[in-house]
Amino acid sequence: MNLLDQVTPARAAPTEVRRSTLLRFITCGSVDDGKSTLIGRLLYETGSLADDQLAALAADSRKAGREAGDLDYSLLLDGLAAEREQGITIDVAYRYFATRRRKYIIADTPGHEQYTRNMATGASTADAAVILVDARKGILPQTRRHGYIAALLGIRHVVLAVNKMDLVDYAEPAFAAVRDAFEVFARGIGIESVAAIPTSATKGDNVASPGPNTRWYRGPTLLDWLETVEVEDLARAAPFRFPVQWVNRPDAGFRGFAGMVASGSVRPGQRLRALPSGREATLARIVAAGGDLPEAVSGQSVTLTFDEEIDVSRGDLISSIERPAGVSDQFEAHLVWMGDQPMLPGRPYLFRFGTATLAGSISHLKHRVALETLEHVAARTLALNEIGVCTVILDRRVAFDRYAENRETGGFIVIDRMTNQTVGAGMIHFALRRAQNIAWQATSVDRSARATIKQQAPCVLWFTGLSGAGKSTIANLVESRLLALGRHSYLLDGDNVRHGLNKDLGFTPADRVENIRRVAEVARLMADAGLIVLVAFISPFRAERRLARDLVGTGEFFEIFVDTPLAVAEGRDPKGLYKRARRGEIANFTGIDSPYEPPEAPELRIDTVALTPAGAAERIVEMLRAAGKLGEH
Ligand code: ADX
Repeated sequence: MNLLDQVTPARAAPTEVRRSTLLRFITCGSVDDGKSTLIGRLLYETGSLADDQLAALAADSRKAGREAGDLDYSLLLDGLAAEREQGITIDVAYRYFATRRRKYIIADTPGHEQYTRNMATGASTADAAVILVDARKGILPQTRRHGYIAALLGIRHVVLAVNKMDLVDYAEPAFAAVRDAFEVFARGIGIESVAAIPTSATKGDNVASPGPNTRWYRGPTLLDWLETVEVEDLARAAPFRFPVQWVNRPDAGFRGFAGMVASGSVRPGQRLRALPSGREATLARIVAAGGDLPEAVSGQSVTLTFDEEIDVSRGDLISSIERPAGVSDQFEAHLVWMGDQPMLPGRPYLFRFGTATLAGSISHLKHRVALETLEHVAARTLALNEIGVCTVILDRRVAFDRYAENRETGGFIVIDRMTNQTVGAGMIHFALRRAQNIAWQATSVDRSARATIKQQAPCVLWFTGLSGAGKSTIANLVESRLLALGRHSYLLDGDNVRHGLNKDLGFTPADRVENIRRVAEVARLMADAGLIVLVAFISPFRAERRLARDLVGTGEFFEIFVDTPLAVAEGRDPKGLYKRARRGEIANFTGIDSPYEPPEAPELRIDTVALTPAGAAERIVEMLRAAGKLGEH
């Protein structure tokens, strides 16, 4: 399975077509550069249009004021352009055509500035890229962006169509200047093979047939280039990789592992290794729809059986032994962000590697890449369509390859845990070994011993609500009640923790995520120490409250929603902060210009309009008693 397959609606992968005769390419450029006309002309001149499409094109061209017989190829693609404006999440139009030599799949992505994610989606399965520039304008920032994303996604063959040559009188120097500038740039970003072709999509020069106007040019037409560019079947040449989609066990006598060969090939009798476990076994059979196969190659869907029982589950990777995949739980990776919400380091996300889905987070953003200049810029977050280099930390190990070595197993996608939407795509640089030499140190005094000596059941009371909602006041009363009952507790209050441990953090979304991540870890340690921990932080985001809940564990985590309407909290304004926020003196103030996401299913909701703080504290102590957390003295 390839990077982003999950988000590509129609991945046409006709397995019967041999790879060497199939070329997938991406077109980059904007309508202004003549991209629609270029694609339209390619389809037309290769005879790929049906009669009704031709008739419609002729009629539309007349309507657009063209002479009879003079076709406006850009109109062919207009219908699709309209659909695109509707803002479909991932937006790549696939088109197909064929010549006698090859079949082609064009991944056409809108050329507009912010569509990085669409281009990344189209590029992730492409062998080659056609980048269009307007001969009058030369290399633009967006040309650099297209080249960079193509290289990042592993495209090795790039052709620059220097278009609109008719508008510069087919002057060779104009072409040569653009070509030379692009070659320097392309070498710098590691693209192996680069060609440049002077074209006029409207007049037809060098698109599918040589132009009479560019006699000084001796190279191929664009179609010739597409027909002859040598694309290695990289997936086929790579070592054997088989992400297990599901375990097929119809009866006690058969146990097979079903999936699609991501790369390489395999034959019965070969020894293979299951990862991350590392167990090995010999391949017995390759079962396919039509019967057993002597060999399976990349792109084929098969079921593998082994000569002995081997413990493999969905999401595991069956790998060659001679050139095995790596296994790790920490990576450095390039990340293309596709979410409408920014990427926030420390926030829990899901990561899908092939068929495996793991929980984890992006712990650190090393830098953002300014796509127009390719400079590395210091940044804390990535917004929609931005690209950066980051560290990913997973909660368990996963099998992987470096993206540069294997596009099929070196990429991952990032999924928002709340919305289930794909919000990012990553390309692995390498595994980080930091955590590898750190084992969990067992201690002889454990959690239950510490709790027993205090004669109590540790737990975390997590108070969430707006500033001024009454969290601290109520938590404070609860702690006094607990003390009176002889309980050992500790109150972690947002304002207080921000004086020490979290002194370095402000109130941007990224800082709040880190604020909550740290206090959740501290609360966990304190519960481990046997304490009843009270946490009174605004904690405005569901994702981080859930992180705290997951860290502490169910049964010990009590989310208490201190529910005070904004107008009431603002009316109380104990610290005068709302007034200052309204005057614009404090930015990112919760409820004013920073969001608060109310809990959906808290253990307890306190209506502070109906209850006094003492009444609220009483309810909370009752809840603890009912949950058996207070025992009976
Ligand atoms: S949280 O959002 O990151 O959980 P936390 O509970 O630590 O916030 O801190 C909130 C306290 O900081 C508020 O009670 C208030 O006194 C103070 N504060 C200062 N600036 C802000 C702000 N922009 N938004 C919210 N609270 C702020």
